[in-house]
Amino acid sequence: MLSPLFLLSLIPISLASAVPNIAERELQRRTLADVVNGLANGISVSDITQGILPDFFDNLPRADQIANKFNINNAAYDQAPVEVLNMPGYANWTSNGWNWRMHAWAYKQPMSINNQSIVSQAVLDRAANVFLAKFDINQLQPHEQQNARNLTSAVLAIPQSDVQLDFLLTLQTPQQNLSSWTAQVVWPTRTDARGEVDGFVQLPLVPRGGEQPWIPDGSQTHQITRLDVHTSVSNSGNSSAYLIPPEGVIILSDIDDILRVTKIYNPQEGLLNTFARDFVPWENMPELFADWKGQHPEQPYHFHYLSTTPEQATRAYIDFIYSNYPLGSFDTRPLNFTTVEQTFSVRKLLVEKILQTFPNRRFVLIGDTTNSDVMQEYPAAAKAYKNVMCILLRNVSQTDSTNRFPYDTSGFRGLDQAMYMFFRTPNDLKGLNFGNGDCRNASVRDTVTFGWQNLPGGINTSKGGSTSGAPNRRVGLSGVLVVMGAVGWWLM
Ligand SMILES: *[C@@H]1O[C@H](CO)[C@@H](O)[C@H](O)[C@H]1NC(C)=O
Ligand SMILES: *[C@@H]1O[C@H](CO)[C@@H](O)[C@H](O)[C@H]1NC(C)=O
Ligand SMILES: *[C@@H]1O[C@H](CO)[C@@H](O)[C@H](O)[C@H]1NC(C)=O
Ligand SMILES: *[C@@H]1O[C@H](CO)[C@@H](O)[C@H](O)[C@H]1NC(C)=O
Ligand SMILES: *[C@@H]1O[C@H](CO)[C@@H](O)[C@H](O)[C@H]1NC(C)=O
Ligand SMILES: *[C@@H]1O[C@H](CO)[C@@H](O)[C@H](O)[C@H]1NC(C)=O
Ligand SMILES: *[C@@H]1O[C@H](CO)[C@@H](O)[C@H](O)[C@H]1NC(C)=O
Ligand SMILES: *[C@@H]1O[C@H](CO)[C@@H](O)[C@H](O)[C@H]1NC(C)=O
Ligand SMILES: *[C@@H]1O[C@H](CO)[C@@H](O)[C@H](O)[C@H]1NC(C)=O
Repeated sequence: MLSPLFLLSLIPISLASAVPNIAERELQRRTLADVVNGLANGISVSDITQGILPDFFDNLPRADQIANKFNINNAAYDQAPVEVLNMPGYANWTSNGWNWRMHAWAYKQPMSINNQSIVSQAVLDRAANVFLAKFDINQLQPHEQQNARNLTSAVLAIPQSDVQLDFLLTLQTPQQNLSSWTAQVVWPTRTDARGEVDGFVQLPLVPRGGEQPWIPDGSQTHQITRLDVHTSVSNSGNSSAYLIPPEGVIILSDIDDILRVTKIYNPQEGLLNTFARDFVPWENMPELFADWKGQHPEQPYHFHYLSTTPEQATRAYIDFIYSNYPLGSFDTRPLNFTTVEQTFSVRKLLVEKILQTFPNRRFVLIGDTTNSDVMQEYPAAAKAYKNVMCILLRNVSQTDSTNRFPYDTSGFRGLDQAMYMFFRTPNDLKGLNFGNGDCRNASVRDTVTFGWQNLPGGINTSKGGSTSGAPNRRVGLSGVLVVMGAVGWWLM
């Protein structure tokens, strides 16, 4: 599903106006207004009353009201340390050696619960209440209160532009004769207006001060090598990079409602599951992933976690994944988007980037039906890229009758059914051996009709063969837009 935080990704843009920079503030305000106005087009009020979106967004405080309450002291803000989020990255092997993708974000977290000199906990609690919708932070268990404060202060981080980042890489799992490899990469550009750098850079083959090429040769190994990544700018930038040889399998998985229980199709639950409760894995998914991790030790799979949750929430997602699932690289929603089109194409861009980087690896794409961009982009990628081997989608309706979210299967029309499977529970995936080319469990019977499913009021768009006409698209897409629009309206 669209992460609940995706909706909230609009918030920091407007809260960044707490930093005095009039030009930037005007730009941000205009951008937000453009986005919201763009989204408002075509939304039908009846979609709301049909129950796609419960009315819990009513009566929420507006962002400017919250921002005023923050009362951030400028001198304290100036002194607060710059922090760096380094996305765990991947590298492909080229004729010039390893080509490493690095995506980093520099920010300050003025509402950090570790530093109450800038805002008080009472202020942070008021901000947290916005994300808890009908709940008050005082109604939560103490550890849930901590979670809510933690994620709220992360989501309200303020991007830092013009920061020079450097990265020190060291071999994480020293193999024989490899232990002395380290490299320093000074990023060629400074962080942009949204605090980000993102790109590929060639890693040196020889260690600093050394003569021998002691980093693994990607054409000579099937093993994945993990590097430690540090930045001198901040201790918070510790991360990993994965050197991935050209051939083998990459399991690319979404996170919300497939690896963890989010229930965004029930927004109040989605917010509580994200902002208050501890993250919980979905059934025995971790067991399946652990099996796959060990399935082909001679040519291990790589795991890439691709969620469109906003960058600000990445640390919580990484902490959860790394303590329940195999280590791997990550993509989350970059801040660097401004138009509605870009907003909706983030998953497409990120999926295509990794598919293009590993043209000879076979990809298994995993997600769920409540995520409209997964439903569109996974089959589109399978049609456009030969290296997509399988698509595995959890049919959320089969295990949760409270899922009222419509989804469109028409993207799968024309795709070989041997390539994809709609499944019910993790056990349906048990024993699938991707290295041997498995994609489907023969005992799972999924009969797919192409078109909108799970529409409110039992509308059946399969009738008469009209499966993806404009009226249907309007209903489904506007379901998503209503959610975003509603968030946007109270932000205004
Ligand atoms: C807390 O904020 C002060 C400035 O108000 C800063 O000097 C200090 O380094 C910060 N401490 C931490 C742990 O972030
Ligand atoms: C490690 O280095 C030693 C001495 O240079 C060499 O004999 C040995 O073959 C090397 N081992 C590997 C796995 O490269
Ligand atoms: C952000 O987008 C702008 C405009 O497309 C581009 O120039 C810039 O390089 C991007 N920054 C990052 C970090 O991708
Ligand atoms: C990051 O790594 C450095 C170098 O190993 C270490 O000194 C530091 O404590 C680490 N920081 C955190 C927050 O773990
Ligand atoms: C806050 O969240 C970060 C990232 O998930 C985590 O490392 C940290 O331990 C959390 N702090 C508390 C007090 O929960
Ligand atoms: C490595 O990745 C880059 C960036 O996606 C891509 O342009 C290039 O073709 C890839 N090289 C190989 C050999 O796969
Ligand atoms: C998902 O499950 C529901 C409920 O069992 C079913 O009606 C629907 O056809 C399934 N969708 C797909 C794409 O298999
Ligand atoms: C297929 O699905 C069934 C039902 O969930 C499960 O019991 C079985 O382990 C799965 N795997 C295989 C290889 O049959
Ligand atoms: C929807 O219409 C199709 C085609 O007429 C039919 O096969 C299917 O059973 C209908 N589904 C529902 C839920 O009524």
